[in-house]
Amino acid sequence: MSHDSTKKIIIVALGVCLVCSVLVSTAAVSLSAIQSANRELDRIQNILQAGDIDYTGKDPIELYKESIKSIVIEIESGRILDESEYTEEIKPENFNIKKLASDPNFGVTIAPENDIAQIRRKPKHMVIYEVMSKDNTVDRYIFPVWGFGLWSTMYGFIALNNDLQTVEGITFYAHGETPGLGGEIDNPRWKSSWKGKKALNEQGEVIMEVIKGLVDLSNTNSNSQIDGLSGSTITTKGVDQMIKYWLGDQGYGSFLDILREEGNNEEV
Ligand SMILES: Cc1cc2nc3c(=O)[nH]c(=O)nc-3n(C[C@H](O)[C@H](O)[C@H](O)COP(=O)(O)O)c2cc1C
Repeated sequence: MSHDSTKKIIIVALGVCLVCSVLVSTAAVSLSAIQSANRELDRIQNILQAGDIDYTGKDPIELYKESIKSIVIEIESGRILDESEYTEEIKPENFNIKKLASDPNFGVTIAPENDIAQIRRKPKHMVIYEVMSKDNTVDRYIFPVWGFGLWSTMYGFIALNNDLQTVEGITFYAHGETPGLGGEIDNPRWKSSWKGKKALNEQGEVIMEVIKGLVDLSNTNSNSQIDGLSGSTITTKGVDQMIKYWLGDQGYGSFLDILREEGNNEEV
């Protein structure tokens, strides 16, 4: 067989493909544990950031274990599940929003007229993170939120003070909006502008608005308004609708109503 025969070229090419595919699959398998540990660390860091818990110089995983308690609620009724009711799928450590939303047993379709966050489906249950204070009362609640922007579904967390009105923080851990435009939802300065704003009024109605343009501080509603991202009206609208959806009746509204009725800061 001559060096440049077609048969030889094909054999060499197939050999190179085979060696490369073995190398790539070995790397993928051996790195998957590290990747999932990194994803978990990223999730924990985002929960801590949303809860405004400073982890500089500390081990975020240890801090998370010390200060955060996960609970699982039934979204529709707002009822907190007893741990004996957990199945493998809805245990906080296994909870996977996308998987549960698309599973016919664990997710539900959202009626188009209610789907202001444009997510089509959601899980029947959700994990909520309680930030505990030293005297074992709940200091703040961290809620997973997600909704569609311009290009992508944006996944994040919003934290509310135990007054059930005031925002303590917001973070996004996954989205595909354009860097420098919609991607500015990750801008620390913009995220810090949420802290102290009122998301709900005393009656539990969602009053928060992410507006187009800058908030006029002389406006009586300015304490519940957030500046829109410039050149990114669609992403801004997506964040606005996501917050209204998840803090409203279709989202955590029933859970928040129960807390409001019970008095939210009882010993646990
Ligand atoms: C390449 C490209 C990327 C864009 N990315 C975003 C984006 O991530 N989010 C967004 O809301 N608008 C984005 N836009 C702009 C939108 O198309 C639209 O013009 C904008 O949301 C209108 O905002 P404005 O009314 O503040 O100008 C992008 C536009 C271009 C050309």
